[in-house]
Parts: sequence; structure tokens; C-alpha cells
Amino acid sequence: MTAVTVTRAVRDPIRVPVPKAARTTLLTVHIVSTATWIGLDVALGLLVFVPMAQPEWTAVCYQVLPLLFWPLMVAGVLSLLSGVALGLVTRWGLVRHWWVAIKLVVNLVLIALVALLLGPGLAAAGEFGRALAAGEIPVSEVPRLFMPPIVSTTALVVATALSVVKPRGRLRR
Ligand code: HEM
Repeated sequence: MTAVTVTRAVRDPIRVPVPKAARTTLLTVHIVSTATWIGLDVALGLLVFVPMAQPEWTAVCYQVLPLLFWPLMVAGVLSLLSGVALGLVTRWGLVRHWWVAIKLVVNLVLIALVALLLGPGLAAAGEFGRALAAGEIPVSEVPRLFMPPIVSTTALVVATALSVVKPRGRLRR
């Protein structure tokens, strides 16, 4: 092992060497999964906000909402796994640069929110949609889910901007 290799291994301890084609594939999976995640959040926003402006759409939109749960989970987990893999195989690391560390926290928090809060909320929305379509409840009793699409889309757009800008500043050498 040469002195340069030793110095680089000490400075860059978790970098896993992989072929360029594998890194490119990982980056493609990462960008496509995060773009899909943002698209699903936009769909979530449409299904939530259209009924607020057009109440006659509430029953249809709310019955569609539960269908978004698994696509959101899959896109979020794929984004996380491909992002962690990219961190390990590139010079960026996982917790070396603050823009990557912030994305790691944001990604984990968003997945937890989808699994623990949004999932049950979407299932309940589906029930409200069915009850509304059957004429069992008035539209005024339907809860509004406007926070999840706003919070998630904002966080993902900020994460995208951080990824593109890649601001200077390290947490660790
Ligand atoms: C929160 C959701 C996330 C979004 C929206 C997101 C978005 C992106 C985008 C758009 C890029 C491409 C930037 C470019 O090529 O100019 C990127 C690259 C990258 N992401 Fe993410 N990401 C997310 C989560 C993560 C996570 C959890 C990690 C790792 C812990 C991560 C690590 C990376 C790394 C290391 C790169 C740079 C790869 C390279 O340039 O070789 N990302 N991300």
C-alpha cells in the first residue's frame, strides 16, 4: 500500500470502491426514486386540496387516498437505501458533510411519519370517502389532511436543493 493510499484510507475510512457504472446506476435510482416521491406528494396534495375547493369531489378523492400509502413507502425507502449507498461509495460519506447528514435525518423522519401517522390517516380518509359516497355522513364531517403534502413536499424540495448545491461545510474530516 502506498503512502497516498494509506493517507486517503485514513481520511476517507468508509468509502467503498465500486465501478463507475455502479455509482451511476445508484445515482439514477436515487434521483428517480426521490423524483417519484415528490410526484406522489404532489398527487397527495391534489387529492387533499381539490375537495377543499370543490366539495363534490371529496368522496372520490378520499377513496383514492389510501392507494398512495405503499407507493410513498417504496419511494421513500428506495431513496433512503440508494442515498445511503451513494454516501458510502462516494467521497461525500454519510455524516461527513452536513448536507448529506441533514438529508439522512429528513429521509428517516419522513418515512417514520408516513408509516406511523400518514398511513392510518389515509386509511381513515378512505373510510370517510366510502361513508360520504354512501350518504352516511355530511361532507362537513370529513377531516382535512392538508399538512402532510405541505410538510413532505417542502422538506423534499429543500433536500433536492441541498443535493444540487452541495454546500461547503463538514461535520467530520
Ligand atoms: C430526503 C430525500 C432526498 C432527496 C430529495 C435527495 C435528492 C438528491 C438529488 C436530486 C441528488 C442528485 C444531485 C446531483 O447529482 O447534482 C442527490 C445526490 C446525492 N444524495 Fe440524495 N436525496 C435524498 C436523500 C438522501 C440520503 C438519505 C442520502 C444519504 C444518507 C443521500 C445522499 C446523497 C449523495 C451522497 C449524493 C451525491 C451523489 C454523487 O454526486 O455522486 N441522499 N440526492
